[in-house]
Amino acid sequence: MTRALRRRARRTHSVRLLRIGILVAIVIGLATSIFAWQQVQLEREIDLEDITRRAQAMVRQRSAQVLTALAAEDDTAQALLAGEVIGYRRLLGYAVFRPDGRRLAIGRGLLDLDAPVERVAADAVLAASEVTLLTHASGMLVHALAQPLPAHGQPQGVLVVVHDVSYLDERVAARLAQYAFWTLTVTLLAVALIVMANWIAYERPLSKLAEWMRRLRVDNAPDLPPAGLLSGNLHRESNELAASLRAARSSSLSLSAAMTHQEQVWTADRLRAHALAALADAQLVVVSNREPYMHQWRDGKPQVIVPAGGLVTALDPILQSCGGTWIAHGAGDADRAAADAHGRLTVPLAQPRYTLQRVWLSRAEEQGYYYGFANEGLWPLCHLAHERPVFRSDDWQHYQTANRRFADAVLNEIGSRPAVVVVQDYQLALVPRLLKEARPDLCVGMFWHIPWPNSDAFRICPWGAQILDGMLGADLLGFHLQQYCNNFLDTVDRILESRLDWDHCAIDRCGKRSQVRPFPISVQPWSERNVPLGSALEQRIAELRKQHQLGDCIVTVGVDRVDYTKGLPERFRAIARLLEKYPESKGRFVHIALGAPSRTHIPRYRAHMDKLEALADEINWAHRTDSWQPIHFLVAHHDPATVHAFMAMARVCIVSSLHDGMNLVAKEYVMAQHTGDGVLVLSGFAGAAGELPDALIINPYDTEQFADAMHSALTMPTDACRARMQRMRQQVEEHNIYRWAAALLAGLAEASTDVRGRLN
Ligand code: F6P
Repeated sequence: MTRALRRRARRTHSVRLLRIGILVAIVIGLATSIFAWQQVQLEREIDLEDITRRAQAMVRQRSAQVLTALAAEDDTAQALLAGEVIGYRRLLGYAVFRPDGRRLAIGRGLLDLDAPVERVAADAVLAASEVTLLTHASGMLVHALAQPLPAHGQPQGVLVVVHDVSYLDERVAARLAQYAFWTLTVTLLAVALIVMANWIAYERPLSKLAEWMRRLRVDNAPDLPPAGLLSGNLHRESNELAASLRAARSSSLSLSAAMTHQEQVWTADRLRAHALAALADAQLVVVSNREPYMHQWRDGKPQVIVPAGGLVTALDPILQSCGGTWIAHGAGDADRAAADAHGRLTVPLAQPRYTLQRVWLSRAEEQGYYYGFANEGLWPLCHLAHERPVFRSDDWQHYQTANRRFADAVLNEIGSRPAVVVVQDYQLALVPRLLKEARPDLCVGMFWHIPWPNSDAFRICPWGAQILDGMLGADLLGFHLQQYCNNFLDTVDRILESRLDWDHCAIDRCGKRSQVRPFPISVQPWSERNVPLGSALEQRIAELRKQHQLGDCIVTVGVDRVDYTKGLPERFRAIARLLEKYPESKGRFVHIALGAPSRTHIPRYRAHMDKLEALADEINWAHRTDSWQPIHFLVAHHDPATVHAFMAMARVCIVSSLHDGMNLVAKEYVMAQHTGDGVLVLSGFAGAAGELPDALIINPYDTEQFADAMHSALTMPTDACRARMQRMRQQVEEHNIYRWAAALLAGLAEASTDVRGRLN
């Protein structure tokens, strides 16, 4: 606001205040004047009655002598009355008249008042009863009472008593002055009170609000609006307006090419503000099969582990930032012991930020739903890894039952409150529809963390239509890539009765619209995770080097769940080929394969693990020296600090997925490159390849090319490594997990407006 505008606003406000003051003064003045006038009139009437009573008493006192005088001749009568008509102080005197109106006697004090005295006497004769007159004469206020005096029923004459009542006017004037004084005092007090009340209740809180808004605008102040605003609504609305402003500022910052890198980066705080605006008064609920914190018995005590996988890596920081509830399968053997009777606990244990609600499944349900239908059916169906999906109707029954159990847990959690529910992944495809059937007003989103295959591949699923129908309960369906969105739309088009809106990437089915959008998932900066950094990191790296006898070797790293989609055999074979083709690399590098055991109850996964261990052993056997082996296949649940230390020390990271929705290991490696000279070798079949073209992109099936890429990575000049890594770091920093969550929540908020619109 310019200074002139500010001056004008102040002037307008003062004028408004002045007008209110004048109005109040007029109202108070009028009211007190009317009151004062009535009071004065009342008092005057009382005084007049009083003087009339006195005059009547005087008439009664004198009437006997006056009647005696009236009975005599005029001369005698005048002599008799001479001493009786004299007045004293306010009593000006008496006058006596014959019934025919002739004046017989008059007091000295009345000599100048003969006109009114004669008039009142004549009126009394005429009326044959008492008459009073109040009039101004000879500079006085005069009260005259004329009383006819009868004898034997005949009028004998009229006696007039006259008082000077000028004091009545003086009293009125004094009273009016008194009332005027009080009116003025009360009016001034009232105006002062109004000005004060205006300042306390209006001006002070609003100027505080204005100052808070200024700080919000200039400094992006993170605190709440000032207390004591005029109403709770204003407080809430200001808060939400601020949140929207921050969110809008954040998005506009990220959209603006002119912004600095730092301004493009989304943070937990920025996301929190954005979430506040996007969620409005709704509760945030995330539901997934995999839980973010799992308890397992170790040495008789429940110990917490963070399960491997992109879903947990991505969503835990979001829940930590925004709060809410995460509903997931309690799969750890110590999970029941570590939760309350309802399966709830707050996490992370060290610094609780959100609620984890565990869902319990029977062994048979877990087997059929999770290992069976989800991971032997849908997982190979969606990943083009040439693994044949297995569909069993028993598994499908369990899948439906378990999905119902998760949906019930969500409905139980939210009760009748408004909520935004984000359903995660292929294990829970039926949950969106189940939620919407029970609560059409809910805003339901679903994010699919794995690829969506083309429609021909999907069509082999015997319950494909039910899966699609379940998913289309969601208002918003998110995939990592536009290509997966396109595949999904095409699949729905081929399998379900529905109307596709390709222009808006949406599907209309049975009067309900589901939007389909790409949201490429990402990672949280390592600096926000509880891992050693700086000299502590150096120390941890030195310990690990020593522990694994790595000497001075260049480290290449791979971090994966042991899964046939991750291309581990292809990678091991490429390492063997590298050693054959470039023998000088022997002894120069080691490959650390951090493998998290996964889905080990599935025979296919056990067989895969056995095969990998045998293959690593075979290659090591073929190429090892007394002090060196090329592959260290470390199978365990590695904690984030260890993963980070290996990533930070590794000159090369290898992601060799045969097919992968996104692959967050690639992005975590980029973020762990604090010195910035690492090289990423990345499968072109991982979703991350589209965002990271500065990686050395490989086809993991092409062993020759794969081996060459590894050789290039090991021998790439440091400058070239740095330049590539710097661009990749910038990309991942600016497209981190907070930005992903903000975009998803914005999409959900938009979909939720749409939901409300359709329900109203
Ligand atoms: O990436 C797909 C996914 O199912 C994620 O949901 C999860 O993070 C990861 O694989 C791990 O799988 P699981 O939960 O079966 O161990």
